[in-house]
Amino acid sequence: MDLDWKNLGFTVRKTDYNVRCVYQDGKWGARETSTDDHLSIHIGATCLHYGQESFEGLKAYRGADNRIRLFRPWENARRMIRSARGILLAEPPEELFLEAVEKVVLLNSKYVPPYGTGATLYIRPLLIGTGPEVGVRPSKEYTFLVFVMPVGPYFKEGFKPVNMLICRDHDRAAPLGTGHLKVGGNYAASMSSVSDAHEKGYATAMYLDAIEKKYIDECGPANFFGIRDNTYITPASRSILPSITNKSLQVLADSFGMKVEQRKVPVEELAQFEEAGACGTAAVISPIGKVVDEEMDRVYSFGDGVNPGPVITRLYQTLTGIQNGDLEDTFDWTKILE
Ligand SMILES: Cc1ncc(COP(=O)(O)O)c(C=O)c1O
Repeated sequence: MDLDWKNLGFTVRKTDYNVRCVYQDGKWGARETSTDDHLSIHIGATCLHYGQESFEGLKAYRGADNRIRLFRPWENARRMIRSARGILLAEPPEELFLEAVEKVVLLNSKYVPPYGTGATLYIRPLLIGTGPEVGVRPSKEYTFLVFVMPVGPYFKEGFKPVNMLICRDHDRAAPLGTGHLKVGGNYAASMSSVSDAHEKGYATAMYLDAIEKKYIDECGPANFFGIRDNTYITPASRSILPSITNKSLQVLADSFGMKVEQRKVPVEELAQFEEAGACGTAAVISPIGKVVDEEMDRVYSFGDGVNPGPVITRLYQTLTGIQNGDLEDTFDWTKILE
């Protein structure tokens, strides 16, 4: 495969196959392989009108041993089931999810980037209501599909500090809404504020709690964490998507002998953090250089703004080391595809 692996960016790119499965008459049908990257669906499909959809994002990594690894794919399967329950989609069984993911990666294995390029194969499972309804009610038919594409880092800076803009005039999720689920509506709700942050030169928007605007929620499509006094601190909030990367970093921080706290994080506490980062499958860890609170006229800076701090660097190297197979997988997080 002849691609410029080091400069892929995070964009859609055609690969050879996707895997699909349709839910009809109360049951999931046979898994099918397709070479078509289009779908033909009814114009009244509930995913089109009422946002009845959920997606996932995970990656396949090629190791120095040339083997392909998935990172905690069962966590994505369970999160999709939780999302499905939350907005009344048919639930894809965990085995269907995992088999479809493995199959589509193996079918497109030539697109799994070579070891050492920093690129990975991004896997996008999607679950949509494909039956027509004109009243607001759940579809009777669903399509689950998985497609893949090789990608570089989500934030173009890669593993370099990025700057974030605190958003005070917009919320991505309501306190008792769907922020904890991976459903399309949350992302639609974030587009204008993220685009505003981009236009002002920031990597993304940092959201605060919707009630008091006092506590940190999320950083665009990533969870926030801060490091102070040998402690890994990350916000607890019902409107945050529970990140699999964050969950893994908490385990790693604990294994380094650090304390781990998941609790409300007041915005002003940013001044006390020695290091701060945004984490997620796509972003991996993006160290944060600066958080700007325009309305409060405050700027919070971390480190020298050019180099990631020592704790974040250690977390990053350990996480990516396990994902690539360079480090022993002592937590049983990876699944090797043969
Ligand atoms: C809103 C949001 N927060 C956090 C994350 C990070 O989650 P994960 O580490 O499971 O990719 C994502 C990406 O999935 C996201 O979309």
